[in-house]
Amino acid sequence: MSKAKTNAAIAALDMVEDGMVLGLGSGSTAEIFIELLGEKIAHGFKVQGVPTSQGTADCAKKFGVPLLDPDKVERIHLTIDGADEVDENFQMIKGGGACLLREKIIADSSEHMVVIVDGTKMVKTLGAFALPVEVDPFAMALTAERIYTALMQAGCKTASTTLRQIKNGKGPLVTDGGHYILDCACTSIPDPRLTASLLVSIPGVVEHGLFIDLADTIIIGEEEIAKVMEIVRE
Ligand code: A5P
Repeated sequence: MSKAKTNAAIAALDMVEDGMVLGLGSGSTAEIFIELLGEKIAHGFKVQGVPTSQGTADCAKKFGVPLLDPDKVERIHLTIDGADEVDENFQMIKGGGACLLREKIIADSSEHMVVIVDGTKMVKTLGAFALPVEVDPFAMALTAERIYTALMQAGCKTASTTLRQIKNGKGPLVTDGGHYILDCACTSIPDPRLTASLLVSIPGVVEHGLFIDLADTIIIGEEEIAKVMEIVRE
């Protein structure tokens, strides 16, 4: 278990109050948080979680975190999630774990989003990590062409798209929502906001991994401490 990720998760746990409903993110850092949360719950702390993936739901059950049906939730106080890249304006790339659609639905419905990362995820400009775009399998080649055009229009110099495959298996990875992921290697995304708005207007795109104006707290875990950074959004 990475010490940096664990320190970020510990700092996030400090922000959780008794009685809260939490959005539970996906990925290895979010799973460390869920494990720590489970320990606190075992000692009488009362929170409930809304999972952002089947993997997270399984993890929450394993560590004794009670889950709520997203359709029955009135309010999500806080979402805690990881990220693949975070820039200095707190814009992010997510979806390395193929959970971006449900992560974005839950983050967007939350009152606050706390992102827990280690320092390797902090970048000046997004895009070294290939941007995951979740697409409907129907006519995917046409959608891929539209995605390429959109990325070029948004100022990316390159944008090769690769259909994500199942690890150690044959065939495309299918998301929890039944879609495919195109990983778009752009090297650099100079205008994340414009890129996001162009991608979302393509009919075959179900969702993309640019998380714009969603995070208000970033916790960067280091070997010994965690650094908390906050942004105030209008
Ligand atoms: C899941 O789809 C992703 O958005 C994850 O949040 C992201 O890949 C971070 O994962 P790690 O915490 O495992 O680095």
